[in-house]
Amino acid sequence: MEELLPFLLAYLFGSIPAGVLVARTYGVEIRKVGSGNIGATNVLRALGPGPALVVAFFDVFKGGIAVLVARAVGLEGPSLGGVALMAVLGHNYSVFLGFKGGKGVATSFGTLLFLDPVLALWTFPIGVATMLLTRYVSAGSMVGGVAAFVLALALRRPLWEMGTVFLMALLIFWTHRDNLKRLQAGTERRLGEKAEVRD
Ligand code: G3P
Repeated sequence: MEELLPFLLAYLFGSIPAGVLVARTYGVEIRKVGSGNIGATNVLRALGPGPALVVAFFDVFKGGIAVLVARAVGLEGPSLGGVALMAVLGHNYSVFLGFKGGKGVATSFGTLLFLDPVLALWTFPIGVATMLLTRYVSAGSMVGGVAAFVLALALRRPLWEMGTVFLMALLIFWTHRDNLKRLQAGTERRLGEKAEVRD
């Protein structure tokens, strides 16, 4: 039972819905604004850069801390990968939001920063460049997911790490299925577009 604790903790950390909590302090229900997502991109649309930065930081942090704690108690290899995935699943299917949640990009990145900083730091500019060039955050997120996996292959990372990154990328595509439809239809919101917040 004790062995399951880091996985459970990772899931619980991941479940903390920073976007919902931060937006609530402004009197906004973020799930009813813009894309309805609880992530920093939608918080940016609704509330601007300050609150969005707080949300992005916390969503990255909770992934990172889950991996750090797991490593501190001696987990490594596939178990560490499992903990990272649990943090992302917590964010995407939060126990505090009736098993609904966000898209897992920032939290995946947070876990990757501590699982494999080199891979994370190569992936980051690829995702950000895509986002800036296309002005679609969702495109940057999905390209970032693919890039992380391709880099894991290219850098000959251990099988468990390739598997972890592959599953993270898969989850990113799954959680972005509505974004994909909007991209196809030409209705995806561009970076910098504001969302109307009604009282
Ligand atoms: O990380 C989420 C981002 O890729 C898309 O967010 O609000 O445009 O669905 P959103």
